[in-house]
Amino acid sequence: MPEITLALPHHSYAVTVEPGALTRLAGIVREAVPSAAGSQGRVVLVTDEGVEPHHGRTVAKALQDGGIDTVVAVIPVSEKKKTLGTVRNLYEIFLENKLERGHAVVTLGGGICCDVAGFAAASYLRGVPVVQCPTTLLAMVDASVGGKTGVNVPQGKNLIGAFHQPAAVVCDPLVLETLPERELKCGLAECIKHGVIRDPDLFAWIGASAPAILGLDQAALVELIARNVQIKADVVVADEREAGERAHLNFGHTFAHAIEATSAFGTTFKHGEAVAIGMVAAARCAEMRGLCDASVGDAIAVALEAVGLPTGSGGLASDAILLKAMAMDKKVQGGKVRLVLPTRLGEVVIVGDATADEVAAAWGAVRGA
Ligand SMILES: NC(=O)c1ccc[n+]([C@@H]2O[C@H](COP(=O)([O-])OP(=O)(O)OC[C@H]3O[C@@H](n4cnc5c(N)ncnc54)[C@H](O)[C@@H]3O)[C@@H](O)[C@H]2O)c1
Ligand SMILES: [Zn+2]
Repeated sequence: MPEITLALPHHSYAVTVEPGALTRLAGIVREAVPSAAGSQGRVVLVTDEGVEPHHGRTVAKALQDGGIDTVVAVIPVSEKKKTLGTVRNLYEIFLENKLERGHAVVTLGGGICCDVAGFAAASYLRGVPVVQCPTTLLAMVDASVGGKTGVNVPQGKNLIGAFHQPAAVVCDPLVLETLPERELKCGLAECIKHGVIRDPDLFAWIGASAPAILGLDQAALVELIARNVQIKADVVVADEREAGERAHLNFGHTFAHAIEATSAFGTTFKHGEAVAIGMVAAARCAEMRGLCDASVGDAIAVALEAVGLPTGSGGLASDAILLKAMAMDKKVQGGKVRLVLPTRLGEVVIVGDATADEVAAAWGAVRGA
C-alpha cells in the first residue's frame, strides 16, 4: 500500500494511504510518537460532531485496544465555530486530562477538524505532536498534509494560525463510505486542480476513472489519494512556508473566494464547487491573454462535468459584485489582481497584473457556460 514521505529540512513524516489503516492506528501512533503510546503515554482524539457518530467509537477503541490511553474530545464542525473559542475549549480538555509534551493529539475529521485541532496542538505547551486522520477527500489530499493549521476570526478566514507539521497522516479511504457525495465531489475539485497545475496524466486519469471514484471503488480511491498527496507533498517540500510555488495551489481560488463571498440568489456554493467554477474562469482568462488555447478550459470543464461539478452558472452574482469581492481579496495589489493561470494542462504561471477588464471578461465567460 502506498506510503508517501514528506522529507522536510527539520522533520520528516509519512502519509499512509490504505483501506482499513485506522484499525491499526495504535501501531502507527506508537511508531510516530513512541512516548504517547508508552506506559506514561496518552492521546486526545479530537473528532468533529459529524464524524463522531460514524467513526469516533471504532477509532477510539482501536487506540485503546492497542494499549494507548485515549481521551475523546468532540468539536463543532462549521466555519462559524472554527474559532479561538473552540481552540480554547480544547486547551481546557488537554489541561484537565494532563496532556503533556510527549503525548499527542490525534485528529479524526474533515479539514475543519484538522485545522482547529492542529492549531490547538501547535500552540498548547508551545507544541505537542499531532497525528492527522482526515475523513474527507479534501482533507486527505489537501488540509491534512503540509502543516498549515488555523482558525477564522470575524475579519477573515484562516487569519490566525501556525505552521505545525504532523507526526504522521493516516488516510483510510473506507471512511469515505459515510461521506455525503457532495463533499466527495468537492474534494475532487482539488484533485482536478492538482492535475491542471502539475500532472496531465492524473488529470486524464480522473476524468476516465470518475465512475469508479464516485462508486467508491477502494483501489481507485487509493490511487487517487496517493497521487494527489504526492503532488501536495512535492509542492510543500519545495516551498514549505509558501514563499513561491506553493501559491500554484491557489489555482482557481481567487475567483472561488469571490464566488463564496457573494453566492447569489440563495445559491450557496461549497468551497470545492466554487473552485471548480473558478478554475474554468482562470482558464478562460489565460485564454484571453493568449497564455493557452481554448482546449485547456474546455478540457477542465469536461473533467469537472464528468464528476458532477459545476463549471459556471446563472447562480453567480453580477460581474460588478464579483469584481468588488475580488478587490477585497488579499491577492489584489494596486488595483491589479494576482492570478494563477494555466499555460497548458500540467503547467501554471503566476501573473501579478490582471486588470479589472480581464477579470470581468473571465466572469462573463463562466456566466454564459
Ligand atoms: N490547512 C490547509 O492546508 C487547508 C487546505 C484546504 C482546506 N482547509 C480547510 O478545510 C476546511 C474544509 O474541510 P472539508 O471540506 O474537509 O470540510 P469539513 O471539515 O467542514 O467537513 C465537511 C462535513 O463532512 C462531515 N464529514 C467529514 N468526514 C465525514 C465522513 N467520513 N463521514 C460522514 N461525514 C463526514 C463533517 O462532519 C462536515 O459536516 C476549511 O475550513 C478550509 O479552510 C485547510
Ligand atoms: Zn481549496
